[in-house]
Amino acid sequence: MKVYLETFGCQMNELDSELVRGHLESLGYRFTPDPADAQVVLYNTCSVREHAEQKAYSRIGIAGKRKEAGERLIVGVLGCMAERDGIDMLRRYPQVDLLCGPGELDKLPLLIDNVARTSRVSIDDRTALAGNKSRRSATLGAAEDSLEALDLGRAFEPAPDGDLPATSAYVRITRGCNKFCTYCVVPYTRGAEVHRPPDHIVDECRRLADSGVIEVTLLGQTVNHYLYVHGDAVDGAGRELPQVGPGAAAFAKGGTAKLATRGQKVTTFAELLRRIHEEVPAIKRLRFVTSYPRDFGDDVLDVLAASPRICRYLHVPAQSGSNRILKLMNRGYTVEEYREFIHRAVTKLPDVTIAGDIIVGFPTETHEDFAATVDLVRSLPFKNNFIFKYSPRPGTTAIDRFPDDVPVEVKKQRNNTLLAVQSEVSAAVHRAWIGREVEVLVEGLSAAARADNDEPRVAASSARTVSAPSATKVELRVTSRGSATETLTPPTPRESVPTASRARQMVARTQGDLITFFDCPLDVTPETLRGRILRLLVTGSGSLQLQGRCITDAIDLT
Ligand code: SAH
Ligand code: SF4
Ligand code: F3S
Repeated sequence: MKVYLETFGCQMNELDSELVRGHLESLGYRFTPDPADAQVVLYNTCSVREHAEQKAYSRIGIAGKRKEAGERLIVGVLGCMAERDGIDMLRRYPQVDLLCGPGELDKLPLLIDNVARTSRVSIDDRTALAGNKSRRSATLGAAEDSLEALDLGRAFEPAPDGDLPATSAYVRITRGCNKFCTYCVVPYTRGAEVHRPPDHIVDECRRLADSGVIEVTLLGQTVNHYLYVHGDAVDGAGRELPQVGPGAAAFAKGGTAKLATRGQKVTTFAELLRRIHEEVPAIKRLRFVTSYPRDFGDDVLDVLAASPRICRYLHVPAQSGSNRILKLMNRGYTVEEYREFIHRAVTKLPDVTIAGDIIVGFPTETHEDFAATVDLVRSLPFKNNFIFKYSPRPGTTAIDRFPDDVPVEVKKQRNNTLLAVQSEVSAAVHRAWIGREVEVLVEGLSAAARADNDEPRVAASSARTVSAPSATKVELRVTSRGSATETLTPPTPRESVPTASRARQMVARTQGDLITFFDCPLDVTPETLRGRILRLLVTGSGSLQLQGRCITDAIDLT
């Protein structure tokens, strides 16, 4: 049976899709980038905003039409939307055969098998949802959590399509979230915060490096809250298991120290970063997302400062510049504390780039609240901010407690105003790099070069995009989070560039995640540069990208 798998949402979902794909392939399933060619169609969905859900619903609608036309097709909804909607979705969309929440993905082959075997499968046999269990596991402990097997069973092989180098990979360090920001579905869809044992993480990084990966991005909803208390969760043979996070108290002043004085060894986020950097030097770039602006200790900044292979890049969403709104959001910090953190980061790491997320139009947001957000964005060196219009989500505290009272038009206007301000700030941040030498990781030909070469554009949705670092992934990353699609437009006006040069334009990223375009040197085949690290001189900039010239010695390029 051939499978088509399409991914929506965040990097966590991209990684989940990669693991699901590996798991199904190991069981003999083959994947196709063309849904029309598949007998099993899977959507790995996102619930974070209504818009994200609509995209998935439209795909489900198309699948329904195929079934109505008499095609035999298994349609599965995976991920956060399956978890949020629950079996109600099966009633509303009878074309959906199976549902699998993000915490149950190890059960997916069984569900497909059940549906494939007989047309009358009970709901229990075609749904795997954590339901209330996802929060209950906080008290039961994560030891029984079978999902770890999926991460551990990862296929450490280059992408099966083989045409793109698999030199970048995601590694999960924490699942779920305990923060309960009032607008957010994630704590409900992904469940309680569970931290993986450091040895599992380091080992996964090592095995990825052995298979040719040079860039690893560590994933967690609040990645800097990683904290593993050794000895608390072990199996019968004494092996360490994933464990539920120790809670915010551990981050209060002296919290970690208290654990230590109880005689318990802990691995902090700083220690984990240091371990990966030292124990797996083949990883040339280590990144992490998403950071939480609170409890980001100097210990982490000091490790970054001392570790050349850890990227000086922080994705640390502020969400709002108004203390009143931050409080209603339950973010747990003030705007002054946010500013203090950014100043501390920039002081300790002068080259650091800062990115974030902002929500506009949160309930009761006044003109003054919004002005405070504009002020925050204008006064800090954000490389970019993903700007979202507040979307009330069923099941969250905000939807129950606060009426969605900012009119759509006002939300749109604030969104546009903030995008314009951010664009100026981004332009200044990028301009400051002109004349400097940077190391970049090459992702492939630019979109314009691919168009000129008449390469078919790979849909951002194809299964391949989850496992390969490429221009395709740039599209996915940029477009999936915000409205910054213009980053994909190459910086030089097309008319003024000879076709031959356009055809060799490549896209790469700096350590600080700045998108950089450069022309492939004439004596080098563009293909050979994909996934490699080069030195460039930055010669120009735009609001969301740099232009550079390759200065790596020709000898090193061949
Ligand atoms: N864990 C990360 C964010 C995960 S969700 C963090 O706390 O920073 C990604 C982003 O989506 C959030 O940062 C927020 O800006 C946005 N978001 C989440 N829920 C939203 C909602 N209901 N409406 C609009 N934007 C939302
Ligand atoms: Fe959602 Fe807040 Fe958790 Fe981020 S920290 S995933 S915004 S609840
Ligand atoms: Fe979306 Fe779930 Fe990620 S709601 S943002 S896919 S954690």
